[in-house]
Amino acid sequence: MNMQQLVINGKNKLQGEIEISGAKNSVLALLAATVILNGKTTLTGCPELSDVYSTCQILTSLGCSCKRKGNSITVCSDDIHKSDIDHSLMMKMRSSILFMGALLARFKSRPCEVFYPGGCPLGDRPIDIHISALSKLGAVITENGGKLICKAPNGLKGADISLMFPSVGATENIILASVLAKGETNLSNCACEPEITDLCRFLNKCGAKIYGYGTPNIRIVGVEKLYGCEYKVCPDRIETATYMGCAAVTGGELILNSADTSSMTAVVPVFEQMGCKIYAREHSILIAAPGQLKPVKNIRTMPYPGFPTDAQPIVMAALATAGGTSVIVETIFPNRFGQAAELVKMGADIRIENDVAIISKSGGLYGASVKCHDLRAGASLVVLALACEGKSILSDIYHIDRGYECLEQKLNAVGGDVVRTY
Ligand code: EPU
Repeated sequence: MNMQQLVINGKNKLQGEIEISGAKNSVLALLAATVILNGKTTLTGCPELSDVYSTCQILTSLGCSCKRKGNSITVCSDDIHKSDIDHSLMMKMRSSILFMGALLARFKSRPCEVFYPGGCPLGDRPIDIHISALSKLGAVITENGGKLICKAPNGLKGADISLMFPSVGATENIILASVLAKGETNLSNCACEPEITDLCRFLNKCGAKIYGYGTPNIRIVGVEKLYGCEYKVCPDRIETATYMGCAAVTGGELILNSADTSSMTAVVPVFEQMGCKIYAREHSILIAAPGQLKPVKNIRTMPYPGFPTDAQPIVMAALATAGGTSVIVETIFPNRFGQAAELVKMGADIRIENDVAIISKSGGLYGASVKCHDLRAGASLVVLALACEGKSILSDIYHIDRGYECLEQKLNAVGGDVVRTY
């Protein structure tokens, strides 16, 4: 798998329509949630991604049945019998940690064993907020050589929990653990990301009582049981931003169908400042790019509804083609400029000083052999390769396959020249 590469010939103007897939970061949380449901759940709009596959492997390893048919995945956890997850499966992605909350809710006093999760190398990614919040709900979590042994000897009980940072994963873990807890949980300073809203809508459809999601204050009234249902995964806002980047750097014009415009409010103005014209309908976005992008001086990544850190590498690639100096401040992750050194190999002029990136007008962009450092860094290389003169060869593309469904097919259908080699 590691040997696969993407060969991209740049300078083709992209024109046409792209269908946006279901959100990776939503479907992963929804799949983890199926552990606490009775009966069958069918999730529709599930993208074909390696992270989704790995999450299904976790479910299967626990004894759940998990079947994919096209873009639908049907899970039934009625026969779940294992309460521990192998180290190798936990290491595949960050979202595996969501099974901690889900298994605690399912097994309560029976010990569950998980490990520290894997995921993109974006600097230190602790889980202290997850652990302290779950402890407030009655969980006892002990660590033994990287293994986390979790149980709730007296069951889980609702609590008032205030997060020191609105962590997406911690918010999801608390929601998963508290929907079946006794009594009420009041969560403050929690994450507001659309994927949290999707998880809450899904759980409410299964019978949960969650209020206030999409805001920093969520109230959860524990219920006795939850029942599986059919649910459509929300559109992927980062995939949407990525194709906006692809249109922007090629002077192209793309219509992104099935996009969730309401989740793009911090991203759209950035592309507008670059000089792109954007026409947003409720479920589609048209982006028309100028011949030369303009720089943007003040992008700062923030928790939702601020500018998403996941779109930062993509926007950096787009700004590398702009006719002036741009500045990006990364506030969410301590080390999320892994793409910069590779973008520079393609001729980008990028200077990094701690959490600030200064992107200046390039003296010329040309195809190069580059390596994907992580998922969104990989996507940023695709974006810049589309703008380069000549051929780029991207290696370590397994990172990209974690989060982009049919990337080369989607790009080639709108005029791109992207070939996967084996
Ligand atoms: N943090 C802590 N302690 C914790 C949890 C988080 O210090 O217990 C810190 C992290 O180290 C980081 C910041 O808080 O500096 C944000 O982390 P958060 O928990 O919000 O992120 P996450 O749940 O690990 C999810 C997405 C990421 C996305 C971030 C921020 C999933 C599976 N992952 O990660 O997506 O960047 O939220 O929006 O939902 C991606 O898709 O490429 C990706 C990395």
